[in-house]
Amino acid sequence: MSIISKDISEAIRLLTAEDIVAIPTETVYGLAGNIYSEKAIKAIFETKKRPFFNPLIVHIPSIDELSNIVEHIPEKAQLLAEAFWPGPITLVLKKKAIIPDLITGGKDTVAVRVPNHPTTLELLRRLEFPLAAPSANPFSSISPTTAQHVDTYFKDTIKMVLDGGACTSGIESTIIGFENDEPIIYRLGSTAIEAIETVVGHIDIKNSVKSEIADIPDAPGMLARHYAPKTKTVLTDNVLETINRYPNKRIGVLVFSSKIESASIKTQIVLSKLGRLEEAASKLYNALHQLDTEHLDLIIAEEFPDFGLGKSINDRLTRATKN
Ligand code: TXA
Ligand code: MG
Repeated sequence: MSIISKDISEAIRLLTAEDIVAIPTETVYGLAGNIYSEKAIKAIFETKKRPFFNPLIVHIPSIDELSNIVEHIPEKAQLLAEAFWPGPITLVLKKKAIIPDLITGGKDTVAVRVPNHPTTLELLRRLEFPLAAPSANPFSSISPTTAQHVDTYFKDTIKMVLDGGACTSGIESTIIGFENDEPIIYRLGSTAIEAIETVVGHIDIKNSVKSEIADIPDAPGMLARHYAPKTKTVLTDNVLETINRYPNKRIGVLVFSSKIESASIKTQIVLSKLGRLEEAASKLYNALHQLDTEHLDLIIAEEFPDFGLGKSINDRLTRATKN
């Protein structure tokens, strides 16, 4: 049985004993373990039912620790870390030999970030090792943004969820890799591309992020079927027309800012009445979790504007339709 608790000392005790603990971050909850403990890392993969080729993100308490983890820091990586850490950007860099292969899926690179959550920053500062933490959901299901979401998934398999409240950003970090020291986006996420471009200039999105099928993708957040509710989900730029294509179905609707009027809708969630993308992103997964519990035949989600966090939201919604 897991306990939901704010007790950082208890989390430290468990993690130091090579157990795994779910931790809050500003993006989503993570399932964390000591990066140097084979036992803990194997438990993370087993608990998530995640394939071993799919590498984990290493969480550190400050930018100063980066050089203990990676071999080389390109200038633009340094600029991004200075600009956005603590925050929802993950950098994929050449790893130091000390980083276990189990963390990196055998790759010679490692993904690192400094999360922006007071509880987890304190936890990381007090621990003597960094934490590997993938999102705390079973492989390919919706990521958790509250302690209760994690508990629903894993109450029988993990001992503790460190409660840090609802995640404020609500979708995963933006992952940036480097090719010849030039940054490239591996996964869209909570930091908008436009913000990144103000720091490093124009940045491309790796092709496999855009394309829908990738067999062994560089960042498996790119697997086509990911972040998926169990309920069939469709994404559309015309919600009303789509509703009319599915007569006599129990329909749930997820829209950005304006409520749709239709007698066929069973449940409707408006993500941001004021049309704010940040607010919509922070509420997205909770909305999908909620709709998924309502025994609907179909979730119809509205396409978001294709800029800022709208791009990241569309990315997640597209993957949600692949179930
Ligand atoms: O916001 C987040 O990033 C959350 C919180 C908990 O920090 N974590 C998260 O972890 O989303 P996860 O494991 O669900 O997604 C990590 C992604 C995966 O798509 C993985 O393939 C990619 O990071 N990744 C990890 N190491 C990599 C590497 N060396 N090269 C390329 N991609 C990598
Ligand atoms: Mg994940």
